[in-house]
Amino acid sequence: MRYRKEGIEKTTRQLIEAISDSGIEGMTLLDIGGGLGGIQHTLLVNGAERATSVDASSAYVKAAKEEAMRRDLDERISFLQGDFVDLADDISQADIVTLDKVICCYDDMQELVRLSAMKARKVYGLVFPRDLWIFRVLVPVANFFIKLTGSPFRAFIHRTEEVEKILRDQGLTQQFQKNAGFWQILVYDRN
Ligand SMILES: C[S@@+](CC[C@H](N)C(=O)[O-])C[C@H]1O[C@@H](n2cnc3c(N)ncnc32)[C@H](O)[C@@H]1O
Repeated sequence: MRYRKEGIEKTTRQLIEAISDSGIEGMTLLDIGGGLGGIQHTLLVNGAERATSVDASSAYVKAAKEEAMRRDLDERISFLQGDFVDLADDISQADIVTLDKVICCYDDMQELVRLSAMKARKVYGLVFPRDLWIFRVLVPVANFFIKLTGSPFRAFIHRTEEVEKILRDQGLTQQFQKNAGFWQILVYDRN
């Protein structure tokens, strides 16, 4: 497992650092599309109290549970499998909400961002692709070749200004923005 060998990716680390800037002691986390759980593990080890991990992929949920057990963090994480948009009504608010490289895997960005922002009591952080014209050209080409392999996966380049507007409308204020190649890292808070 790459995460176990090499640790978390640079952009994930930058997101964690920006979120942690204002303090995470005793906070709760809702990590949507958390994959193997790098954000959950780091924040819990650094002082957050509990985490809820929601992922659409049963394979990821299984692997994330195993990794949390290996790190002795499983009793502080609630694992849910399914599409967050479908599950949102039954999921409680958390102090911190994260979506690291998730909205780029989902077509209905508006609902995913709106419903997840409503769950953030204090901080909302996300990593998603910059909407440069070159990526808007290259990603559909990549999707074409992915489709040929028979995989149902598709990537999406969502408009940054649309994401930002939804978050503003939900009462969140941008505190941090950083570009990192294909990705951008954004952190918001509720004041
Ligand atoms: C590219 S992976 C990123 C995983 C992890 N956050 C990371 O950066 O390593 C995207 C993850 O988001 C999950 N995902 C995408 N849309 C989702 C949704 N609407 N609800 C829950 N999980 C979702 C996928 O199942 C996948 O595990």
